[in-house]
Amino acid sequence: MSVLEDLEKKYTESNQSMETYLQGLLHAKPITYWDYIDTGVLLNIQKPRTNFPDEMVFIMYHQVNELLFKMILWEMEQVHNNESITPEFFTEKLGRISRYFDVLAESFNVMTDGMEVEQYMQFRNSLTPASGFQSAQYRLIEFGSTELINLIDFRFRATIDRNTPFEHAFEHLYWQAAGKDHKTGNKSVLIKEFEKRYKGEFIDYMQKVNTTNLYTKFKSLPEDSRKNPELIEALRHYDYTVNVKWVMCHYNTAEKYLESGKKKAEATGGSEWKKYMHPRYQRRIFFPEVWSEEELATWGENI
Ligand code: HEM
Repeated sequence: MSVLEDLEKKYTESNQSMETYLQGLLHAKPITYWDYIDTGVLLNIQKPRTNFPDEMVFIMYHQVNELLFKMILWEMEQVHNNESITPEFFTEKLGRISRYFDVLAESFNVMTDGMEVEQYMQFRNSLTPASGFQSAQYRLIEFGSTELINLIDFRFRATIDRNTPFEHAFEHLYWQAAGKDHKTGNKSVLIKEFEKRYKGEFIDYMQKVNTTNLYTKFKSLPEDSRKNPELIEALRHYDYTVNVKWVMCHYNTAEKYLESGKKKAEATGGSEWKKYMHPRYQRRIFFPEVWSEEELATWGENI
């Protein structure tokens, strides 16, 4: 069948005239790169709060991160929605997800080495109390990757299981510790604002991916697929990149800037970041089943 016949069929089936569409085509403007990519919008969403030139580096690198986070979530969703997943499809998608996270880990020196410390230490004050901690997509990536229990603060894991209400689990996520005054237990402005904006969406998403997150998908594969070496390697690579490599790049950057002056600076979000962020203490592991007892016991050490 010719394209014209296909089109005729398409429009006749919905009681429309192909002729009118073809007339429209006659006058249509050619598509351009700038309209398609929407560069006019993309290049106009950088809004520094100060006149320090390096604040632009900070803003744009965060925006690049958010775009890559979106690419990661896009691939992840295809795993979540696949009801008869094969190890090959799973490995292919994990490969893409990992490549994006590799880019994030490999490029983190844009932050570490790409800004003048003096400028950063000035413009960061204009950003208080905001923090990358408030990146919603980063949290969606965590929820989408693993079972909730692996994101619960270690101190509360024994009290939480599959029957625990989502709301209760939410209050015991590992990152709640960064948003609380450890003496009074009160929540900081950083986390209060974050929850006001996103808590509802997070609880919905937690429910949505409860049985479709990457780890549950892996665990529900048939026994022989769960032993697939490429799939296991892909899971290990992703887990290590996000939860050790990226975390360490981030930690070392925070250390460089916040400990640069005579007086140690506080994090803009106000957390006790040194204790909170190191993988040795945080022990965030998405896929515990693919690591040996020893690897789990020494997580975040020897790096
Ligand atoms: C100079 C660069 C950076 C510094 C000094 C820095 C510092 C920090 C600190 C101290 C925290 C602890 C929370 C708080 O603010 O109190 C934090 C959390 C966080 N930051 Fe950054 N950060 C930097 C760049 C980035 C970038 C580029 C991203 C990418 C989006 C990012 C994402 C995050 C995330 C997701 C958290 C929460 C981590 C968790 O809960 O384990 N940060 N950051």
